[in-house]
Amino acid sequence: MNGRAERGPRWWEGATLYQVYIRSWQDTDGDGFGDLAGVRRRLDYLSWLGIDGIWLSPTMPSPNHDWGYDVSDYFDVQPDLGSLDDVDALVADAGERGIPVLLDLVPNHTSSNHAWFVEARASRDSPHRDWYVWADPAADGGAPNNWLDATGASAWTLDEASGQYYLHNFLPDQPDLNWWNPEVHEAFRDILRFWFDHGIAGFRIDVAHSLYKDRDLRDDPPAPLTPESRFGLWHEHSMNRPEVHDVYREWRKLAEDYDPVRLLLGETWVLDVERLAAFYGSDDELQLAFNFCFLFAGLTAPELSAVVDATLAALPPGGCPAWVGSNHDVSRFPTRWAGGDPGRARLALALLCTLPGATILYHGDELGLPDVPVEPDRQRDPMSWRAADGRFNRDRARTPMPWEPGTNGGFCPEGVEPWLPVGDRTGLSVAEQRDDPASTLSLARRLLALRRRTIGSGVAPYQRLLVTDQVWVYRSGPLVVAANISGSEAAVDLPAGEVAISTRDLDLDLAHRAGGDGAVLGPWEALILTTESAPGTPDA
Ligand code: GLC
Repeated sequence: MNGRAERGPRWWEGATLYQVYIRSWQDTDGDGFGDLAGVRRRLDYLSWLGIDGIWLSPTMPSPNHDWGYDVSDYFDVQPDLGSLDDVDALVADAGERGIPVLLDLVPNHTSSNHAWFVEARASRDSPHRDWYVWADPAADGGAPNNWLDATGASAWTLDEASGQYYLHNFLPDQPDLNWWNPEVHEAFRDILRFWFDHGIAGFRIDVAHSLYKDRDLRDDPPAPLTPESRFGLWHEHSMNRPEVHDVYREWRKLAEDYDPVRLLLGETWVLDVERLAAFYGSDDELQLAFNFCFLFAGLTAPELSAVVDATLAALPPGGCPAWVGSNHDVSRFPTRWAGGDPGRARLALALLCTLPGATILYHGDELGLPDVPVEPDRQRDPMSWRAADGRFNRDRARTPMPWEPGTNGGFCPEGVEPWLPVGDRTGLSVAEQRDDPASTLSLARRLLALRRRTIGSGVAPYQRLLVTDQVWVYRSGPLVVAANISGSEAAVDLPAGEVAISTRDLDLDLAHRAGGDGAVLGPWEALILTTESAPGTPDA
C-alpha cells in the first residue's frame, strides 16, 4: 500500500509531515548519537502514529560545525549517521509503509571544508573562486559592508592569503555560495536529480529566502529589532533578494519531471505573509513554505486567527499553507506557547492538526514534549557559544526522544552518554503514553486519524466563525473547531455536529457534549466537531 500514491499528485496537501532530528531520534550503534538505522527501526512507530511523510535533518557529510548544516559533500551520507545504502534502505522501508522521505538541502552555503571552497580559497584565479562571495576590504581595511552573521559578528571573514573577505551569513565555517554564478545553479540541479533518482520525495530547503545577495553588496538598512531583523538590521541586501524566485521556478520544473512529483518545502524565515506567499509564485515555485508568522504569533485567538486569515488571503490560487509550531531551532511549542502546561500544549496540537493544508510536526510534539534545559557544559550548538547576546539556545529543543522510562529513555543504551541530555521525561515517554487513552500521544494519534479522514487531501476550505479575545471557532472542511484559548471557561454557540475530540476530556464519553446549541468550553479546551456542511453554508 502506498499512502502517497493514494493521496494523488499533490500528495502534500492536507498531509502531516514529521521532522526527525536524526541525532536525537534513535541510537543503534551505542555512540550516543541517533543514526539512519535508528530511523528505520522506528518506522513502525511513525506508521502507527499516522503521519504522511518525514523530513530528515541533514544527512550529508559535514564537519558538524553546525550539525550538518555545513555540507562538505552533497552526494553522500555523513558516516556516523550511516551510508548511502542506509538511505536507500530507509526510502524503501518507508515506501512500503506509504511514507515519503524528504532530505534537508543546504544551498545557501557549504562547509568551509567543501572541496569547492578549499579550491576557491587557494587563489584568486581558482575556477571555483566565483562560486563564493568575495570582496575587497573597505577603504579602512575593514569588512566590505555592514552585514552581520547569525551570531551578530561581521558576516565577512578576511582570507589573509588572498587579501579578500568572504561572506558567511552563518558561521565563518559556512561560506555563502554565489548564486549569481550559473555554474552554481547547474551544480544544484545535479544534486537535486541525484537524490530524486535515489527515491527522495523532496527537500526541505534551508534558509530558502537567503540564496541571492545584492550584487553591489549595499549596506543593510537599520530596522527595529524583531526575530527577523536580527541585531537591528533589515536584511534587504544580505538576503531576501527577489532573484531567488528564479531558482525555485527552475527547481519546480525539475521536481515536476518526476513521478510522483517531488516536493520543495522552504525554510522561509520571513515574518510577513505577503513575502511568504511570494515563495509559491503562481503555483510555480515552492509547493510549501513554512509559516513562521504562525510559529511566532502568540497563543491567542486574535493573533493566530489573524495569521491564518492573512495567509489564506495572500496565497496564490492552489497554494497550500504549511503550519508549524516547533523545530530544531526554536523553543518547542509545549514550552514556548504552553509554558509547560500539558492542557495548553494539547490545545495547540489540535489547532496544528485541524488547519487546512499541510502541517509539520517536530519529533516529540505528539508527546507534548517541553524543552530540556541544557547546562552550558553540555551545550553542543556552536552558535550558542559564539552568539554575542545568548540568542541561540537551540540545544534545548534538540534533546533525545524519550521512548521509554529510564535514564536514557531507550534512545541509547544505559551507560552510554547521549550527545545531549535526555532530561526528566517522567510520564512523557512513548511507552508510558502509548496505551493511555488520556495521554497527549493518544490525542495526537486520534487527531491525525481524524485529519486523514476529513481534511487529509486537498486544501480544505476554511472559514472563521468567531474570534474573541478568548475563543477561536472555525470550520476546516467538515470539521468545526472551537478553541478556548484562555484559562477560564467560555460559552460558545456551535453548529450541529458530532463531537469527535475534546483536548480536555481525553478519556470521557463525549455524548453529553453534542453541538447544535451552546457548549461550555473548559479552560484551554478545543472541541472538534464533525459536521455535514462545508464553509459558506447558511448555518455557518
Ligand atoms: C537553518 C537551520 C539551522 C541552521 C541554519 C544555517 O535555519 O534550520 O539549524 O543553523 O539554517 O544553515
